[in-house]
Amino acid sequence: MTIRSNRLALCGLGNVGRSFLGILRSQEALLRERYRVAFTVVGVADSGGAALDPTGLDIEAILLAKRAKQSVATLPNVGRTDMNALAMAQTVDADILLEATPVDLQQGKPGIDITRAALRRGISVVLANKGPLALAYTELAEKSDLADQSWGMRRRAVGEEAPAVPKPALRFSACVGGAMPTINIGRRDLAGCRIDRVEAVLNGTTHSMLRAMETGMSYIEALIDAQKRGIAETDPMLDIHGWDAAVKLTILANAVLDCPVSLSDVSVEGIALLSTEELQEAMDRGERIVLLALAKRTSPDDQDTKHPYKLSVRPTALPQNHPLARMDGHEMGVVYYTDIAGRASATTRERDAVPTAAAMLRDVLDIVQ
Ligand SMILES: NC(=O)c1ccc[n+]([C@@H]2O[C@H](COP(=O)([O-])OP(=O)(O)OC[C@H]3O[C@@H](n4cnc5c(N)ncnc54)[C@H](OP(=O)(O)O)[C@@H]3O)[C@@H](O)[C@H]2O)c1
Repeated sequence: MTIRSNRLALCGLGNVGRSFLGILRSQEALLRERYRVAFTVVGVADSGGAALDPTGLDIEAILLAKRAKQSVATLPNVGRTDMNALAMAQTVDADILLEATPVDLQQGKPGIDITRAALRRGISVVLANKGPLALAYTELAEKSDLADQSWGMRRRAVGEEAPAVPKPALRFSACVGGAMPTINIGRRDLAGCRIDRVEAVLNGTTHSMLRAMETGMSYIEALIDAQKRGIAETDPMLDIHGWDAAVKLTILANAVLDCPVSLSDVSVEGIALLSTEELQEAMDRGERIVLLALAKRTSPDDQDTKHPYKLSVRPTALPQNHPLARMDGHEMGVVYYTDIAGRASATTRERDAVPTAAAMLRDVLDIVQ
C-alpha cells in the first residue's frame, strides 16, 4: 500500500489552528487507510514567530507550547523569533498552506499577503480566514484554479487549452459556516440549476446568543458563553454587527452565484439593538428571529441594483416551521431555492472550533486527491 506524503504549513495556532493539529493526529490512521495519505507539518506560525522543520515538526510540542501560552518561536532548535508568518509563507517548502489568522476587513493582513505569497510560489492554500476572500476574491480566484475549476467539474470552455503548469488550488469551505457544506452544495451539487434565493444563518455566535437570550440570558452572558466555546471572532463586534455574516454572504455570492460583489454591496444590520423582549414577543407570535443572510435574485427590470442578486444581512422573523427557525443555538443552516432541484437545505451543529478544522481537512483532501 503506497502512502502519499504531503507537507503542510499552518499560519495561526488559535482555536482553529490547534484543532486542526489535533485532528491530524486523531484521524491519522483513517487518512492512511481510506485515502492513502499522510501529512507532515513542516512550518507553523503565530503572532510571535514561526517554527520550521523540513522533516516534520512535533505536533505535541506545538500544542504544549500553545497551551502554555507561548509562541512556537520559543520551541528549541526549530523556533524562529526572526521569522513572521508572511516570511514563512515566502520560504517554506510545503505543498499546502493553511491560513487561520484573525480576520481583518480593512487591510486583510496578514492573511491576504500570506495567501498571495503562497499562491505566487505555486503552493495551494486552504483558508479558514475569510478576510482575503472578502477583499480580493476575484484576484485570488485568478491566481488559483478557482477561475477554471469547480470541485472536479471542468468549467473551461470546450477547445480551450489547459494551462501548461496547473495553477495552485485555493479552497475555503471552512469560511462559510464551518463544517456545513454551504459552498460545496451550491457549486457542485446544484450544478445545472438556477438559484433563485439563498437564505442562511451563517454566524454561530449571534445565533447562539439569540437562542440563549430567548431563554432570558442577558446579551453579555450570551456573548461570553459563545467566546468560552471558541466560536466568537477574535473581535466579536464583527459577529454582533453582522459583518461576519455579510462577509460569508459575499463569498457565497462570488463562489456560488457567480456574482462579483464586494462587502459594500451587502446591506447589513446586526443584532446589537435586539432586546430579550422582542425575541420573546416573536416566539409568542409563533415566529423566531434569526440573523438572516439573504441573496435574492433580482428581476431584469429591477433598477435598484447592478447585480443579479440583492444581498442583505438583518434580524428577520421567520415562522417557527422554517428550516432555519427550527435550529437550536448550536446550529447554522442554509436553504437554497432552485428552479429544477426544489429546495435544498443543510444545517450543522457545532459546539467548538473542531468542525471548522474538519472543513479545512476536507479541503486539504480535495486538493491532494
Ligand atoms: N473559531 C471558529 O469557530 C471559526 C470558524 C470559521 C472560521 N474561523 C476563522 O478562522 C480564523 C482563526 O480563528 P480562531 O478562532 O482560531 O482565532 P484565534 O483563536 O483568535 O487565533 C488566532 C491565531 O492567529 C495568530 N495570529 C494573530 N495575528 C497573527 C499574525 N500577524 N501572524 C501570525 N499569526 C497571527 C494568533 O497568534 P497567538 O497564538 O500568538 O495569539 C493565534 O494563534 C479566523 O479568521 C476566523 O474568522 C473561525
